[in-house]
Amino acid sequence: MSPRNLDPHRSAVEMNANEPADVMVIFGITGDLARKMTFRALYRLERRKKLECPIVGVAIDDWSRDHLIEHGRQAIADSGETVDDAVFGRLAARLSYVVGDYTAPETYQLVAEAISGKNKPVFYLEIPPFLFGRVVQGLADADLTKNARVVVEKPFGHDLESARVLNADLRMVLDEDQILRIDHFLGKEPAMDIMFLRFANSIFEPIWDRNNIASVQITMAENFGVEDRGQFYDPVGAMRDVVQNHLLQLLALVAMEPPASADADAIRRRRVDVFRAMPDLRPSNYVRGQYDGYLDVKGVAPESTTETFCALRLDIDNWRWSGVPFFIRAGKNLGTKVTEVRVVFKKPPKLAFAPHLAPDANHFVIRIDPTPGASLGVRAKKPGERATRGVDLSLIFSQALGQAPEPYERLLSDALAGDRSLFTGEATIEETWRLVQPLLDNPPPVIPYEKGSWGPKEADKLLRGYPSWQDPWLDRIS
Ligand code: BG6
Repeated sequence: MSPRNLDPHRSAVEMNANEPADVMVIFGITGDLARKMTFRALYRLERRKKLECPIVGVAIDDWSRDHLIEHGRQAIADSGETVDDAVFGRLAARLSYVVGDYTAPETYQLVAEAISGKNKPVFYLEIPPFLFGRVVQGLADADLTKNARVVVEKPFGHDLESARVLNADLRMVLDEDQILRIDHFLGKEPAMDIMFLRFANSIFEPIWDRNNIASVQITMAENFGVEDRGQFYDPVGAMRDVVQNHLLQLLALVAMEPPASADADAIRRRRVDVFRAMPDLRPSNYVRGQYDGYLDVKGVAPESTTETFCALRLDIDNWRWSGVPFFIRAGKNLGTKVTEVRVVFKKPPKLAFAPHLAPDANHFVIRIDPTPGASLGVRAKKPGERATRGVDLSLIFSQALGQAPEPYERLLSDALAGDRSLFTGEATIEETWRLVQPLLDNPPPVIPYEKGSWGPKEADKLLRGYPSWQDPWLDRIS
């Protein structure tokens, strides 16, 4: 036994925190998320021989195990994977199915029977958040939570208050260490690249601060609308859907200090420190837009004022970032699909040897989606002329480094292994809701915008006095 395990002050949970799971139980295995993401992720893990434990599905649908397996195979094929019989056979052999109502105590007895003999379960809750409390209580009553990890899906709250209630519900029966909250952006390999590029290269960190950086722009543009998700989207809007969670996580990765160790808490603490250094967001720094035609989407309220676009300014009051604005814009039905983080450096001074040139600023872009990569924008001399033009020193990650695992593949594998570094903690959830709460309480009016545009023109005014929105880096997107 290691000295760590001998420490009488450590709880059973802590001792278990980094140990691989010996079974995974998926609540809601017949649902949409499982169909679109989970089966694909599990299949890809199986293919890479990264799965080692049985998988038990739980849901209310009266399906047979065979039906679930057939459904899984179809889901994997529909997601675009070519299903290899041998790989799928191994995955299918792991699967069993429990039919049960999440509000009935008997369900948890059935789950207990299905996992008997296992003592390091991961419970993955792919169910509506209002059921989280009920399910973890059911698991606790059946004495199943002692050594467990519980993975929960977004949305985690609708505002600060509801997020606190949700946290409290989970914490009634679980330690914080046991709760893994998914934000799939943290599972995106290029998001992790931000941290590695910054800290593993001595050329970036010395200039990554307010002395050298003019502003940071984070863009998440989608060239499709709300489509068949009107009922989900209309009470939510862009701010809650992608800013409070995904884009603030990207911001934290750009702005964080280097973690002091490989420990999950050390990494998570550095991310949350960024949010703690940010003042509440101001409605006067917030622009909301709605694409033309949104009101005709099925499930959208007749006079809905929900935003499908938002742009905002954020500030970080610390030594590294004071005076450097961060700008975020995100929207549906914009002209292109791209998510990028763009660091805009300060302009160089006038060139005495070429005084007619107006030197332009350098930028460093990390493209998260699609075709992840990085690009350093520099000025170079035009051949034969005493003039410069902008050129990109760029890199497509998959070409240079190979294919990366997909976000759910990575996150499920980390949940099974007990690595919590890419999950969000209670503090992050509460801090990010704190930041956006004033915008939810006092939203500015929603401004219509044309499909295929960059959203309402008003978003440009947020950047007055700073470099304007730059066109995203779209080179070599495949
Ligand atoms: C989801 C949002 O969380 O993230 C969607 O609900 C959004 O509205 C999606 O489209 C974007 O994720 P990705 O990984 O496809 O960029």
